Amino acid sequence: MTVDPAPRPVLIDTDPGIDDALAIMLAVASPELDLRGVTTVGGNTGLAHTTENALRLLHLLDRDDVPLAAGADVPLVRRDSRPDEGVHGDEGLGGVRLDPAPRGADTRSAVQLMTDVLAASAEPVTLIALGPLTNVAALLAAAPAAAARLERIVLMGGGARTLGNMTPTAEFNIWFDPEAASRVFAAGVPVTMVGLDVTRRAVTAPQDWHGLRGGGRTARALLGMVDHYTAYHVGATGSDRTPQHDALAVAAALRPDVVTTRRLHVDVECAGALTRGMTVVDVDDVSGAEPNTDVALELDADAFTRLLVGRLTDLDARLGG
Ligand code: BDR
Ligand code: CA
Repeated sequence: MTVDPAPRPVLIDTDPGIDDALAIMLAVASPELDLRGVTTVGGNTGLAHTTENALRLLHLLDRDDVPLAAGADVPLVRRDSRPDEGVHGDEGLGGVRLDPAPRGADTRSAVQLMTDVLAASAEPVTLIALGPLTNVAALLAAAPAAAARLERIVLMGGGARTLGNMTPTAEFNIWFDPEAASRVFAAGVPVTMVGLDVTRRAVTAPQDWHGLRGGGRTARALLGMVDHYTAYHVGATGSDRTPQHDALAVAAALRPDVVTTRRLHVDVECAGALTRGMTVVDVDDVSGAEPNTDVALELDADAFTRLLVGRLTDLDARLGG
C-alpha cells in the first residue's frame, strides 16, 4: 500500500488577473497542496480589484476559510508602473462578475498574514508568487526570521532567453516592481523562477475547455474569463492559444518535474532606460557569480495542459452549481 505524502503547505501572493484566477483554482483543486493563505498585490489591476477578485474567487470555490489579506497597491520605489491594459479586461477578470463574498479582507496586512502562517506552520511553507514581488520583498525585509521558515519561493516572472512581454526585455511582474524583484533574488531564500521561457509554451486552446461547456458555476466563471483572454490574444498575436503563466508556477510547486530547471545566477536591472525590469540570467556562467535561482528552462507542455484542464474539470464537477 502506498501512502500519499502530506500536502505541502503553501501561501499564494497574487494579482488576479485571469491567469492568476486559473492558478488559484488549480491550487484549490490539488490535494498535494494545503492552501494556508492568500495575499493580494496591485499589478494586473489595482489592489482594490485584485483583493475583491481573490475574495470572490475563494467564495466561488467554497474556500471562505482561507485567510486573505491585502498588501501593496504600488511598487516599492518608482510609482510609474501601470497595468497591462486589455489583457485581463474590466476589473481584472475579463468582465466576469462573481458573486460577492460574505467576508472582507483580513484586518492584518499581507506581510503580517504571511508572517503568522510561517510562524504557525510545523513544516516549511512554499510561497507561490504570481504577481509583482512587492509584498514578498516587504516580507523578507520586515520578518527575516519568519522568511527563514520558507521552504522556497516559486515565482512567475522574468525570462532567461525569452525576455519580455511588457517591454522587449522585461516581463510584466518583474517590470512592475524591479526593486522588489531584485531584493527577492538576492535574499538567499531558495527561489524557483518560472519565467516566460516556459510560461509562453504553457498554453491552452479553446477546445481544451470544451468538456466544461454546460458545466457548473466554476465552469461558467472560468469559461467567461478564458473567452476574454482568448479574444485578447487573438487580437494581439493572431493565435487562440493562451499562455497560462501563473498556473504553471502552481503546477511547478505541486509537480516539480513539469519543468526542468538549472541553477543559475539571476539579477534584475533596475536602472536601464531600455532594460528596466529585465532579469539578467547568467545562462552560460559568464560572470562566475554564485547561482542563486533554479531557473525553469524547459517544460512538459502536454503534461501541464492535461494537469490544468483535468484538475479544473474535476473541481467543477465536485463543486457543482
Ligand atoms: C504575468 O503578468 C500578468 O499579466 C500575469 O498574471 C502573469 O502573472 C505574465 O507576464
Ligand atoms: Ca499574475
